[in-house]
Amino acid sequence: MKILITGGAGFIGKWIVEKLPSETEIVIVDSLDEQVHKTSRQFAPELQARATCIKADVRDIEAYREAAEGTDVIVNLVAQTGTGQSMYEISKYVQHNADGTAKLLELISTLKQKPRRIVLSSSRAVYGEGAFADGTEIYYTKGRRLHELQKGIWEVCNEQGKPLQALPMRETQLANPTSVYGLTKLWQEQLVQNYCDNQNIDAVIFRFQNVYGPKQELGNPYTGIIGIFTNSIVQKNSVELFEDGLMTRDFVFVGDVAEAVVKSALYKQPISSIINIGSGQATTLKELVEIIAHITNKKPEVRISGRFRVGDIRHAVADMSCYETLLGEWKPTPLEQGLREYLSWYLGQVPPSEADLQTSLKEMEQKGLLKVSK
Ligand SMILES: NC(=O)c1ccc[n+]([C@@H]2O[C@H](COP(=O)([O-])OP(=O)(O)OC[C@H]3O[C@@H](n4cnc5c(N)ncnc54)[C@H](O)[C@@H]3O)[C@@H](O)[C@H]2O)c1
Repeated sequence: MKILITGGAGFIGKWIVEKLPSETEIVIVDSLDEQVHKTSRQFAPELQARATCIKADVRDIEAYREAAEGTDVIVNLVAQTGTGQSMYEISKYVQHNADGTAKLLELISTLKQKPRRIVLSSSRAVYGEGAFADGTEIYYTKGRRLHELQKGIWEVCNEQGKPLQALPMRETQLANPTSVYGLTKLWQEQLVQNYCDNQNIDAVIFRFQNVYGPKQELGNPYTGIIGIFTNSIVQKNSVELFEDGLMTRDFVFVGDVAEAVVKSALYKQPISSIINIGSGQATTLKELVEIIAHITNKKPEVRISGRFRVGDIRHAVADMSCYETLLGEWKPTPLEQGLREYLSWYLGQVPPSEADLQTSLKEMEQKGLLKVSK
């Protein structure tokens, strides 16, 4: 079994490599993007020991054409991943994410032997705000309007201004991204699906919720809310919560995500589907801060600032029934247990610069994408 992992030197990629059986031949293609690989522009020693590592942009297909021959499964993890940043560095996100996937598919079309499966790491961002219930009716809304957010109306409301109840995200729901990042993830999905349907290749498209855990690059201020909160709590003993702090996210442990990817890559039978990957549990950001504070023994000052990021959604949680039907029982790591593992790793790392986070927020403010309610 030979597997090609694009973006394999990143956070999730490292975990997938660790969990693949020792007899699997692994090729990693990764540009070691500067924003992600702040501390070192080298492949981690454990990756070099285990895989053939090629430092290349996924769009530079000549750099890895030869290494891609004979691949059974391709796991496409390459992406620029900052939702907020995608709202102003638009062409960068389109080029790396959408064009990156397009180029990879062009390379596959020239291979002597095609892979039998492509596994794509998509995102819950493709759902946008998702679906809502009002009594027995299911709604899709246009999302939250700027003028509502400016008044501090945080929940998604119906036409009469009544808050709607967010439903767990299901793969059959409408894809309706609210960010450029979400759009590019949807394009990745559609490109892979279209290509695979026409070539008789399996397409497994995972829509990950918020993935967290050890090995997440701490120096990238554009991603990873758990890292950002942890830095604030540990370094400053204070933390800012946007909106009213009651937006919810589904935090899924990276080890669980990697196991799902490995399981799908090794799966013997044909399998082609869009599949959610989350813990299935919604947590408010306020609760998240409380758990991190409890584990680190801190009593941070929690500032609910009323600031908000344009393009952010209000609620997200995965419905995991599709995974269970196709791939078997799903037993996610409980949040507190995963956070303990994350925090004990975090405390052994060099703390990232708080100035970088402030710079990323300033950038958003200057571009009119980080605002405050009146
Ligand atoms: N981490 C999450 O919470 C999360 C949630 C939903 C979806 N995802 C998706 O999972 C995938 C992996 O995410 P991650 O958290 O490991 O991100 P990451 O940033 O740690 O890893 C991505 C890797 O891709 C590489 N890369 C970026 N652009 C490249 C290019 N043009 N050519 C070659 N390599 C390039 C980077 O150097 C990096 O090593 C992404 O597709 C992301 O959209 C992640």
